[in-house]
Amino acid sequence: MNIRQLLNEKVKAAMIAAGLPEDTNPAVSISNRPQFGDYQANGVMGAAKKLKTNPRELATKVVECLELDDIADNIELAGPGFINIHLNKVWLANQLVAASNDEHLNVSQNAQPQTVVVDYSAPNLAKEMHVGHLRSTIIGDAVVRALEFRGEKVIRQNHMGDWGTQFGMLLAHLSDKLASNEVAETALADLENFYREAKIRFDEEDGFADRARDYVVRLQGGDSDCLVLWQQFIDISIHHSEEIYDKLNVTLTRDDIMGESAYNPDLPVVIDELMAKNIAVEDQGAKVVFIEEMANKDGEPSVFIVQKSGGGFLYATTDLSACRYRSGELGADRIIIFTDARQALHFKQVEITARKAGFLPSTTAYDHCPFGMMMGNDGKPFKTRTGGTVKLAELLEEAVSRATDLMADKIADFSEQERSEIARKVGIGAVKFADLSKNRTSDYIFNWETMLSFEGATAPYLQYAYTRVQSIFKKAGINQQTLTNDILVNEPQEKALAVKLLQFEEVLDAVISECTPNLLCNYLYELASLYMSFYEACPILKEGIEEETKLSRLRLCNVVARTLYSGLDVLGIEVMDRM
Ligand code: ARG
Repeated sequence: MNIRQLLNEKVKAAMIAAGLPEDTNPAVSISNRPQFGDYQANGVMGAAKKLKTNPRELATKVVECLELDDIADNIELAGPGFINIHLNKVWLANQLVAASNDEHLNVSQNAQPQTVVVDYSAPNLAKEMHVGHLRSTIIGDAVVRALEFRGEKVIRQNHMGDWGTQFGMLLAHLSDKLASNEVAETALADLENFYREAKIRFDEEDGFADRARDYVVRLQGGDSDCLVLWQQFIDISIHHSEEIYDKLNVTLTRDDIMGESAYNPDLPVVIDELMAKNIAVEDQGAKVVFIEEMANKDGEPSVFIVQKSGGGFLYATTDLSACRYRSGELGADRIIIFTDARQALHFKQVEITARKAGFLPSTTAYDHCPFGMMMGNDGKPFKTRTGGTVKLAELLEEAVSRATDLMADKIADFSEQERSEIARKVGIGAVKFADLSKNRTSDYIFNWETMLSFEGATAPYLQYAYTRVQSIFKKAGINQQTLTNDILVNEPQEKALAVKLLQFEEVLDAVISECTPNLLCNYLYELASLYMSFYEACPILKEGIEEETKLSRLRLCNVVARTLYSGLDVLGIEVMDRM
C-alpha cells in the first residue's frame, strides 16, 4: 500500500469514529508546501458541508480519533478544517532501510495480480514504422513495465496491421520483382519506397490494378502461393519493426504479435452473432450497428459499419473479435489500448457494441488511451524538410549522432566502445524522455535542443544525476550493496528526500491507473533535484563528518540511485556508471 492510501485509510477510520458515514472521503493528498505538512487531509470540509456542521469542530474531533502511531510526529489543524500531517523522521528512516533491503524497493507486489492486456505499438506492416508509432510504442511499454514492477500479470498484444486490400498491390509488385530475380530482402529493404512504387503502378499501369485486386481475392480465399508470398512480406516487415524495438529498448517480441490477420477465422462468427442478437442490421447491403448511446444532437444514432456491402470485413470487425479473445481466451481484467486520439470514436463504438454483444463482460475494463501528435518546431505535424513522413529509424540515428557530438568533449578519454554506448543511451533516452514527459493527451513540439539539454527535465540530466550518485561510492571506495547500517533522517533536505523516495509506489500507481508515464518523469526530475539540494547541504565524504552520519548518507544515496535506476528502467531508459 502506498503512503497516501495508508493515510487515507487511517483518516477515514478516524472520520468514521468521529461519527461520519462509511462512504466518507478523507481526500488525503501530498501537501504542496512543507509548512502544511507532508500530506494533508481535506475531506472534513466536504463532510461538514453535507452535515451542515462547523468544519473546524468536526476536524478537531477527527484529529482526536486519528491514530497514526509512529507514522506521524505532528498532526495540525489548519484553516477551516485542513488536517496537516507531518511524517515522523524515525518512521521514514525505517521505511527507507526496508526499501534499501528489498529488491522491489519495498514497492508492494500485488498478491492477487490482475491480468492486464496491453495493446501498443501496432504498426501497419505495409509501410515502414514512422514517428506516429513512436508514441504508442514507448508510452505503452512504460505502462507495461510499471504494471510489471507492481507485480501485475501483463499480456502484451501487438495488433499489427498485416491484412487488408493494400496487400493486393504490394504482393503483385513483389511477385514481379521476384520473377525478375530480385530477392525479397533487397526488394523490401526500403518499405516506404516499395509502397510508393506499387501505388504508382496501381494508379497508372494498365492491368496492374486488376492484378492487385485478383491478389486480394486469392489472399482472402487462402490461396497457398499467395499466402507464402504474403508471409514473406510480413516477415521482412516485422523484422524492420524489431530492429526499431531493439534500438528503443522496448520489450516487445515476436511472441507478442497478434496481428489483424489472426482474427480472420472469427470474423464471420462475430457478424453472425451480432445479427442473431439484432445488434447489427442490414443497411444498403452492409451490416451496421446503430448506436443510440452516441447519437448526435439531432438524435441520429452513430453508425458503426461492421461488414461492407461486398462482404468484406473491417478494422471494426477485427477489434470486436479482439475484445472477445482478450477477455475470453486471455482472461483480461483490464484491456488498455494506445493509439492516437483520432481513433477515439472507433474505440468507443467498439466498446459499446462489444459490451452489448457480451464479447466484453462488465468485469473487464476497456481503456482506450489516446495521445496527441508530435509536432515540428513550426507547430505543424512533424515532417521531413521536404514534407515526407519521418522514418523512425532515421530519427533514432540522428538522436545518437547528435548525442555523440554533444558528449564528445565530456567523454573524450573513455574507450571507443564506452563512448558509443553512452551516446546511444543518451540519444535514445533523450527522445524517449521528451515524449514520455509530456501530458499524453496533448500535442507536443519535438525539439532536439531541449531534449538533449543537461538542464531541466531531460534524460541527460537524470542520467547525469545517476552517475553523480554512483561516483560518490567510487570516491568513498565503498560497495553500496554491503551497507547494512541505519539511516538517520535529520536535516530538512534529508527529510524532503526521504519523503520523495517513499512516494515511488504512489507514483507508479498513478501511472498505472491513468496510463500517464509523464507523472513518473516529473517525479524522477523532482527526485534528482532534491538529491542535488541534499548533496549541497549535507556533506558526505568531507573531513570531520562522523562515521555514523557518513554511512547513513551513503545508504540514502543508495536508495536514491536505485530509485533513479528503477524509475528510468520503467521508462525504458538506460543509465551508465559514468559520463
Ligand atoms: N495499426 C493501427 C494503426 O497503425 C493501430 C492498432 C491499434 N490497436 C487496435 N486494437 N486497433 O493505427
